Amino acid sequence: MQLQLATWEDVGAYLARSTGVIIPIGSTEQHGPNGLIGTDALCPEVIARGIVDATGALVAPTISVGMAQHHMAFTGSMTLRPTTLIAVIRDTVDSLARHGFDRFMFLNGHGGNIATIRAAFSEIHAEISLARAGNAPSLHLVLKNWWDTPKVKALSKELFGDKEGDHATCSEVSVTQFAYLDAIKPAAFQGTAPRNTGFGDAADYRRRYPDGRIGSDPSLARPEHGRRLVEAAVTDISDDWRALLAET
Ligand code: NI
Repeated sequence: MQLQLATWEDVGAYLARSTGVIIPIGSTEQHGPNGLIGTDALCPEVIARGIVDATGALVAPTISVGMAQHHMAFTGSMTLRPTTLIAVIRDTVDSLARHGFDRFMFLNGHGGNIATIRAAFSEIHAEISLARAGNAPSLHLVLKNWWDTPKVKALSKELFGDKEGDHATCSEVSVTQFAYLDAIKPAAFQGTAPRNTGFGDAADYRRRYPDGRIGSDPSLARPEHGRRLVEAAVTDISDDWRALLAET
């Protein structure tokens, strides 16, 4: 069930059988010459819908703008400061916890969000641990990176080998091609981009990775590959979802 397509009574009925919710979280940032700016938000959103179909989970609206300061030298990119994203995650969890949700899976599409999501989880846990009454219910907070599951990693290695790269990857571009066939862009570039040597601010990133890609050759992306990657992610993460619901 999608929260945005439910009524408040639907959500009440759902809460009677489950207190878990999936929150896709991504980014709005350049993804190289043929990748969509929404890639990191679109991928977890599509996968979350697959998990809904497989498990009956509830999925909240996607947090579509993330921590992407290093992409700001490319037009169209947007970022939240780490402190802003922490506040967004805290308020999102607090809103849903007020209704009785206590299991939260953040299904993430952007490596640059990881540190900030973990910091937000620490803030939320600290708030509960430091509460004077000391009897606030615990919240189960899980971060799941869609590209980092056994089946997805194996398939991406099989399909793309060392051309997968670290940003504007063949896998993520394939997933958006599968989900948004009409938005496929021509791959008018050649070869693999510079290897990952790290980065600091936005200008530094642009100097090191002139067309936005890191180590990838997303001309290899195909909708059919995307379909298989989504299927692999849905299978693995549905198992993680069931495990989260079973936690005591
Ligand atoms: Ni990405």
